[in-house]
Amino acid sequence: MSASPFIQEEEYAGGRFDWSLWRRILGHARSHRRWFWTMICSGLVLAGTETLLPISNAWLIDEAVAGRTGAAFMWYAILYVALVTAFSIIVWIFIRAAGHLSTGVAYDLREQGFARLQTLPFSYYDTRPTGWLVSRLTSDCTKISGLLPWFLLDLAWGSSFLTGIAVAMFILDWQLALWVLVIVPPLALVSWYFQRKLLRSSRLVRRTNSIITGVYNEGLMGVRTTRTLAREDESLAEFQEQSGDLKRFTIRNSLQSAVYLPCIISLGAVGVGMAIWKGGVQIQAGSDLSLGDLIAFMQFAVLFSMPIQEIAARITDLQAAQAAAERIQTLIETVPEIRDSPEVAEAMRSAPPGGPEDGGRSDITTIEFKHVDFWYKPDEPVLLDFNLRVADGQTVALVGATGGGKSTIASLAARFYEPRRGEILIDGVEYRQRSLHWYQSQLGVVLQTPHLFSGTIRENIRYGRLDASQAEVEQAARLVNAHNFIESHDGGYDAEVGEGGSKLSVGQRQLIALARAVLADPQIFIMDEATSSVDTETEQLIQSAIDTVLAGRIAFVIAHRLSTIRAADVILVIDHGRIVEQGTHRELLAAKGRYWRLYTRQEAEEEEAAMGRDGRAD
Ligand SMILES: Nc1ncnc2c1ncn2[C@@H]1O[C@H](COP(=O)(O)OP(=O)(O)OP(=O)(O)O)[C@@H](O)[C@H]1O
Ligand SMILES: [Mg+2]
Repeated sequence: MSASPFIQEEEYAGGRFDWSLWRRILGHARSHRRWFWTMICSGLVLAGTETLLPISNAWLIDEAVAGRTGAAFMWYAILYVALVTAFSIIVWIFIRAAGHLSTGVAYDLREQGFARLQTLPFSYYDTRPTGWLVSRLTSDCTKISGLLPWFLLDLAWGSSFLTGIAVAMFILDWQLALWVLVIVPPLALVSWYFQRKLLRSSRLVRRTNSIITGVYNEGLMGVRTTRTLAREDESLAEFQEQSGDLKRFTIRNSLQSAVYLPCIISLGAVGVGMAIWKGGVQIQAGSDLSLGDLIAFMQFAVLFSMPIQEIAARITDLQAAQAAAERIQTLIETVPEIRDSPEVAEAMRSAPPGGPEDGGRSDITTIEFKHVDFWYKPDEPVLLDFNLRVADGQTVALVGATGGGKSTIASLAARFYEPRRGEILIDGVEYRQRSLHWYQSQLGVVLQTPHLFSGTIRENIRYGRLDASQAEVEQAARLVNAHNFIESHDGGYDAEVGEGGSKLSVGQRQLIALARAVLADPQIFIMDEATSSVDTETEQLIQSAIDTVLAGRIAFVIAHRLSTIRAADVILVIDHGRIVEQGTHRELLAAKGRYWRLYTRQEAEEEEAAMGRDGRAD
């Protein structure tokens, strides 16, 4: 099974810790200054109270040993209650702050990511599946924003707790402190080592899991094919292999975590042992180390491992999330390939509102492709030195073999993509010198699989022009012959279309998209197989309407059914990115070339189909 590049990318973060990336990610947290500092201060205060507890214990024990129990117990009780209360208040504060901080960061990341996605050109979407993009904005954002507050807290708490413990021990007895601190380097080493191991094995578990899900999916969706090709055994074998891997990796992961904790506990015990041994000897020798101090040392030795473990765990968390952080941060920082040049952006800022650069109307009469080269992938040119001039509101029909480049020409005309070489002039001006917003607001684009937004039919048509009245919406629907189907549809204009229009047939969606484009009343129409899923009779009904709509406007019409483009001012037969024939319907038929062959073959097929229908009807 070949993993998609996007699954492999998940695994990318096996490598080093990327400080500069995390600094940029932390930048998102820093903009929520209040909550950022609340987390840091909480960590400091927590560490303070936790350091004070063993010290107060030591004091109590010493008082008790000296026989001054009465007052000491009272003061200890008061101090203890005060510390625990402070502790609980801090816990309440930081949980609240963590909530605010992570929601705030998630909001920022999502908003910036979404805003970026709105401006990225189609070429960006070509290489990234929608599902992949959606998980960037959902699971990646959640992952990062969920980690940040705890990272800040644990980092502040851990480092100050470590410092607090060390300082307290040195003040109590610096020599003994040195003995206990012997365990710190091995503790840090063991934590770091196991965290890395665990990270690696849990990543393997996750990856195998997602491969298994993939195998499941393919197996279930392709079950009919598998059966008919008698491939059950192979499918099962593949599944068993992945399952076996999963079992191995899971066991490895559990073993590692089973060894990790005992190691840490043993090292802590070594520290305690050091304190008892060296401290005990000192007490016996009659130094001024008290019993209480010794017990404080023992507690500190146990406590030491906590912050080390936590800091190692948080850093590992970050490392585990590094791929997610990298993806979301690169998305936010992607500079759109197709965007207004600095000069245009500047001109837009100073342009009078309502003027042409501000999205206002102006008549477009010519589009000219001049020596245009275009490719999606550098080594596979689609168009080479393509030239075309469309003037005086002509309708240009593009026909020809699949993969010839028709949709590409239309996309270039729409500036969904820009020429790699050469230029496209709108009324004599290279379109990159105009604003993208202005140009695209002059376009009406209807594609083979039009997109509807969830909402009613009426809302979807009105999307073409938000201030259109009811009457105008209906008029547009009538014009493209959608009115009748809408009226007879359950709920009429107020029927919900479902997500992406899923409650309607593709043909019905096309009719609504056409009505929407007509309502927008654009200067340039681009229709790519816009009526391909509508039945022949409906298409003929729409045809005359479309011809009226297109009259006097520049239009690019792509259609497989040649009967629909007969009225075009010029028909281009496109093959391998070149115009191989050009003329009106009549001229091309008279020339008896490629177009004539295509046309007569289709006519014969349609007649046959019609006869078949009539025959059945009889
Ligand atoms: N988004 C894309 N990424 C990479 N290659 C693409 C992309 N879109 C099209 N191509 C390639 O460019 C060439 C031209 O495709 P195009 O879609 O323009 O053809 P077409 O004439 O519209 O075909 P059809 O009649 O099937 O719609 C094809 O070889 C196709 O594989
Ligand atoms: Mg196409």
